[in-house]
Amino acid sequence: MAYNDLFLRAARREATERTPVWMMRQAGRYMQEYRDIRSKHGFLEMCRTPELAVEVSMQPVDLVGVDAAIMFSDILVGFQGMGLDLEFQSGRGPVINNPVRTVADVEKLRVADPIADTGYVETIIKTLRRELENKVPLIGFAGAPFTLASYAVEGQGTRDYENCKAFMWSEPEAWDLMLSKFADTTIDYLKMQIDAGAQVVQLFDSWVGYVAPRDYERSVLKHTKRVIDEVKAHGDKVVPDGGVPVIHFPNGATSMLDLAQQAGGDVIGVDWRLDMKNAVNVIAPEFGIQGNIDPVALFAPDSELEAMVVEILEAVGTRPGHIFNLGHGIHKTSDPEKARAMIRFVHEHSERIRSGR
Ligand code: CP3
Repeated sequence: MAYNDLFLRAARREATERTPVWMMRQAGRYMQEYRDIRSKHGFLEMCRTPELAVEVSMQPVDLVGVDAAIMFSDILVGFQGMGLDLEFQSGRGPVINNPVRTVADVEKLRVADPIADTGYVETIIKTLRRELENKVPLIGFAGAPFTLASYAVEGQGTRDYENCKAFMWSEPEAWDLMLSKFADTTIDYLKMQIDAGAQVVQLFDSWVGYVAPRDYERSVLKHTKRVIDEVKAHGDKVVPDGGVPVIHFPNGATSMLDLAQQAGGDVIGVDWRLDMKNAVNVIAPEFGIQGNIDPVALFAPDSELEAMVVEILEAVGTRPGHIFNLGHGIHKTSDPEKARAMIRFVHEHSERIRSGR
């Protein structure tokens, strides 16, 4: 089979004959094949066992037909190496048993060693590249400094971020040091992924939409920017012809995409709250765009789903660098058959639109 490199070309903002599509959280619970494996293993155990992680990474490629693979892992797997005691509790999600609440806690945080602490991720990426040969490109990923810090301080997922923001305002120097340590850990971690063979990397800033623009500008932006700049420079060295594109996904940051763009990235991920007609104006032409159908659209009848796909594709038109995706992760009760239908709609209609027919 010919190598389907549509995704890589789009991430580099080269012209493509149709629009590539993948789905955030595509390796996951909406697939029976994932649930079968998960029923026998803990989530972190799956992340740390290359055979299992590789198997579930391949499932959406083989069974759903996406144009890119993403390694199965989690943005929080690096916490252990930083001295944060992470566990996943069923029904509750990630829990950190020793959250960061004081200046002394920040000082104790270590910058993780990507190989010593997360060497299994290197194995997963190398194995996936071998298994994927002649299929689709491989995406690596990490969490952005703010999103990681929000888990470290709150100790769990949250709605209001009161501990996190109170710390940001009351201990600005320690906050800066904490985000620097997350940035350093993430830079080393993504460099390791690139060395292992990740062809594109996505930086998930999943909860940055809860930060007010003034605080993003003062206390967050420079850390995210440093991660993106250093990772891009490394990618340019490792892959001299074309580099390793960075997809920057500032989820929920619809109202401060001007600022988020200042942090950089080759492609800006747009969540589902912003109409693509507006996104193409807000996002400067030198960036690619990833997104952004409402993940819940997979629960709509086919005709409505198709109409939503067409609206997004027509809003983008022939602008290069569009990667179709959900505007956030796929819901765990989604029907894989609907995901296949969506992918078919994206391919059919983008081919028509991009050829000017
Ligand atoms: O996209 C992919 O398919 C790759 C796998 C992936 C997972 N997590 C697997 C996972 C990726 C890219 C992530 C990133 C991640 N993890 C993010 C950023 C993405 C986003 O949605 O913005 C965040 C915020 C996390 C932290 C995290 N991990 C949460 C909040 C949860 C959900 C808790 C729950 O039970 O709903 C997880 C668990 C998790 N990560 C699952 C999967 C498949 C479910 C675990 C299970 O099987 O029980």
